Amino acid sequence: TIEGIVAREILDSRGNPTVEVEVGLDDGTIARAAVPSGASTGAFEALELRDGDAGRYLGKGVEKAVANIEDRIVDQLLGYEASEQRLIDQKMLDIDGTADKSELGANAILGVSLAVAKAAAASAELSLFRYLGGPNAHLLPVPMMNILNGGAHADSNVDVQEFMIAPIGASTFREALRSGAEVYHALKSVLKKKGLATGLGDEGGFAPSLPTNAAALDLIAEAIEKAGYSLGTDFALALDVAATEFYKDGSYTFEGGSKSSDEMINYYAKLCETYPIVSIEDPLNEEDWAGWTAMTAALGDKIQIVGDDLFVTNPTRLGRGVAEKAANALLVKVNQIGSLTETFDAVELAHRNGFKSMMSHRSGETEDTTIADLAVAVGSGQIKTGAPARSERVAKYNQLLRIEEELADAARYAGAGAFPRYKA
Ligand code: PGA
Ligand code: ZN
Repeated sequence: TIEGIVAREILDSRGNPTVEVEVGLDDGTIARAAVPSGASTGAFEALELRDGDAGRYLGKGVEKAVANIEDRIVDQLLGYEASEQRLIDQKMLDIDGTADKSELGANAILGVSLAVAKAAAASAELSLFRYLGGPNAHLLPVPMMNILNGGAHADSNVDVQEFMIAPIGASTFREALRSGAEVYHALKSVLKKKGLATGLGDEGGFAPSLPTNAAALDLIAEAIEKAGYSLGTDFALALDVAATEFYKDGSYTFEGGSKSSDEMINYYAKLCETYPIVSIEDPLNEEDWAGWTAMTAALGDKIQIVGDDLFVTNPTRLGRGVAEKAANALLVKVNQIGSLTETFDAVELAHRNGFKSMMSHRSGETEDTTIADLAVAVGSGQIKTGAPARSERVAKYNQLLRIEEELADAARYAGAGAFPRYKA
């Protein structure tokens, strides 16, 4: 039974404030959760409530969200069993009463929602992934490691936001992580040798300025070979283009020129012929539904086309995407929708309609590792949580190592099977 809830303002990985919540139960259990924050956010995300007081944290304080938890949520949740997740989340949605959670703030609601789940798991003496996923949760996700950062996550000239390596040839998560870390280190030495910058972007990947986006893929291909692995069998490649960031008035400003939706699709088709790409996220603008449908018709039988800003983990937008065949995979970010219950609903809707799901961090993160457990609980088979560097990224990968260890012989690493369309 929930006996108390406290909230506080803490810092995220970019030095911006975010919400942390602790839930206490009558059996002495105390559990804590923290809320992530995006930079290339979708226009249709639930509202992240910030104070707007320019005198504190450049207006980014979250004291209002913290106060909303303490003044408007806590009293309403006392006495609930922590295992009543759906009732608790629904109660908060009712108190908020808006479609975008702008009354209480999605950051307020999500912090409580996640901390309640963790308290329930701890009280039941279960690991979070087992509590959330039940006895059949056993699939370890492919870590989609973002080892080269561009777009809004870097100060370089690279348009594509994320260049990811997918260790599809490994047989365990532990080996996948090891091989990915080795490629990450090899990439650093490849960059150094070429006199390119080795500073890091927001998600821990390197952030050099490069002549083209394909040049990033060539550098990564070189790093994979240098680390002793083979491109196409040990590793596949994946992109998050985050195209909304460079879309304006009907065209895409890409590699110094102006491109139409069709020209972008042709570009991706060529890229997929040249490189073993398994997944492209946000290839087009978040409102370019017709373009997304054309993209999926053109490439959806070969690769995974992932909606992030397009779907914002929102079952209603995902429903439209299913009906219009606008993608074939859902990116899952808990703070885009703002509660655990609705996150589960979005993933369930995706899987029921033959869509894949990829669990995801935000570019602003904390030491909270909930998404690692969530990935295994829902059987996503894929997680992206940055480079194998920087503790707010690595914390999630490390949690997956612990989960794999706990599952022992029952664990199965998703590997190439996470990308059924891909044939090496
Ligand atoms: P964000 O980036 O957290 O800054 O939105 C991550 C992504 O676009 O997938
Ligand atoms: Zn994205």
